[in-house]
Amino acid sequence: MSESKWKLLEPFRIGTLCLKNRIVMPPMECLLNGADGSVNQAIIDYYEEAARGGVGTIIVQNSYIDEKASRSALVHLGVYSDHLIAGIGDLAETIKSYGVAALLQISHGGRQANPAANPYCPPIRSCIKPDPCGAASLAAPVKSLPAGLANNPFA
Ligand SMILES: Cc1cc2nc3c(=O)[nH]c(=O)nc-3n(C[C@H](O)[C@H](O)[C@H](O)COP(=O)(O)O)c2cc1C
Repeated sequence: MSESKWKLLEPFRIGTLCLKNRIVMPPMECLLNGADGSVNQAIIDYYEEAARGGVGTIIVQNSYIDEKASRSALVHLGVYSDHLIAGIGDLAETIKSYGVAALLQISHGGRQANPAANPYCPPIRSCIKPDPCGAASLAAPVKSLPAGLANNPFA
């Protein structure tokens, strides 16, 4: 095996953080969290299994940041309230106990925020429809505007 392939398994330093190797698990929603976005045992078990597998870094899936309009799915990990801190801390500690760096992706669903999962309409208006499967509907206009933006001169 060439030297460059072995480098993947060598430690790597970013600032004060020493990663045990260069393998990163990207953020991937696993749909295991509690109904309020909280960390539960199922999601801890899922990330523990990944950490045990030997990656150097885990970026925990995207987590919504307010209870108003940032949630993009009904099952979505959340970091919008202090009551979620303990669970997020447990998750981080579980990952780190395997010598794996734990990062958390925070997110606002923006135009892809799910109206069914949010008490308010997403504040971001776009005439481009969300299309996770490709560019097929890029030209299709949105059928209705968020209420507060109905008279928006930029709309
Ligand atoms: C089930 C699933 C859930 C995902 N969840 C997230 C996510 O929470 N945040 C994100 O940025 N990307 C998410 N992704 C995208 C992955 O991170 C992305 O596929 C990965 O970085 C690989 O990139 P590539 O498809 O360009 O190779 C998800 C992908 C899958 C398959």
